[in-house]
Amino acid sequence: MSHALCVIVGDGIGREVVPVAVAVLQRLLPDLRLVEAEAGWDCFQRHGVAVPEATLQAMQGCGAGLFGAVSSPTGVVPGYRSAILTLRQRLGLNVNLRPVRSWPRVSPKAGVDLLILRENSEGLYSGREHWQEEGVAIAERVISRAACSRLASMAAEVAAQRQARRITLVHKANVLPLTCGLFRDTCRAQLEAAGWGAQLDERLVDVAALQLVAQPEAFDLIVTSNLFGDILSDLACHWSGGLGLAPSLNWGNGLALAEPVHGSAPDIVGSGRANPLAAILSAALLLRHHWQRDDLARRVEQAVEGFLREEWRADLAGETTRVVAQGVLARLA
Ligand code: NAI
Ligand code: MG
Repeated sequence: MSHALCVIVGDGIGREVVPVAVAVLQRLLPDLRLVEAEAGWDCFQRHGVAVPEATLQAMQGCGAGLFGAVSSPTGVVPGYRSAILTLRQRLGLNVNLRPVRSWPRVSPKAGVDLLILRENSEGLYSGREHWQEEGVAIAERVISRAACSRLASMAAEVAAQRQARRITLVHKANVLPLTCGLFRDTCRAQLEAAGWGAQLDERLVDVAALQLVAQPEAFDLIVTSNLFGDILSDLACHWSGGLGLAPSLNWGNGLALAEPVHGSAPDIVGSGRANPLAAILSAALLLRHHWQRDDLARRVEQAVEGFLREEWRADLAGETTRVVAQGVLARLA
């Protein structure tokens, strides 16, 4: 298998952390071919579009991509649409995979190792918002059997990969019987058919939030809809050590776009303080789930673990990007 990577640094600290993750991949995949592409706010200001067609084509041509972060304006800007939402929807990246685990020194709790699989294309983020009348705004929550079914089949694949001991469907079907009911019934039927009935479990989203705080080590694989997954995964990433250690993978349609969960962090841009570990761990997700190289993904994770255990200091400050990059790359030599 040849390896090609579409590199979208984006805005802000995306430009600082993505080159480190690319260097990690280059260490492990000597044949890696890089294709640079643009997206984001800076791109919008220069070209009038946040995701040029050339970027979508580059992603489709490569199959795999690494996305840094983009800035978004705080108000409505005519013609502007969030670059990452555009990429997810136009490329059919229907599932978002967010692992959370404990790391030495930086995590507030040991023993956490869970993965949140979130629907990535519909739910309350379907983009269907309108004014019904003055003073009443409506957002439509779209749940389709097709999207739930794609999510469940990826859940079965991931469950097999990590030999899941528990799969928790998170929903609110007591209050949203049609949308959450369809989600739950479709996922349940498909996971049972795939042989995961004995591991299958359900939680209402509010109880799941409490348990993710009180007893995160009890979870293994969580499967949920778009908004619930967005919120629960940010909550859960506290247990790994925060945004600087939170990786993700947008996945579907034969394509995979890795993306640190954090944004463009304008408050620290250019200061050397950006932690590249979230980007590095996102690159590891490409190795595991797209290129089917679990062995290489483990090498990256072991290098990160070794670095944190032996060299991490809380006072790295403006040396963070450089020291982390050197420490991880040295362990992959
Ligand atoms: P943010 O994630 O950029 O930053 C939140 C806080 O965490 C800041 O104090 C930042 O310095 C810190 N932080 C984030 N990543 C870090 C890292 N790797 N190392 C060290 N510290 C880190 O979120 P914020 O401030 O809400 O948004 C800033 C911009 O990013 C906005 O324009 C927002 O729209 C955009 N954004 C983009 C996302 C994406 O591209 N997927 C996701 C979230 C926000
Ligand atoms: Mg989020």
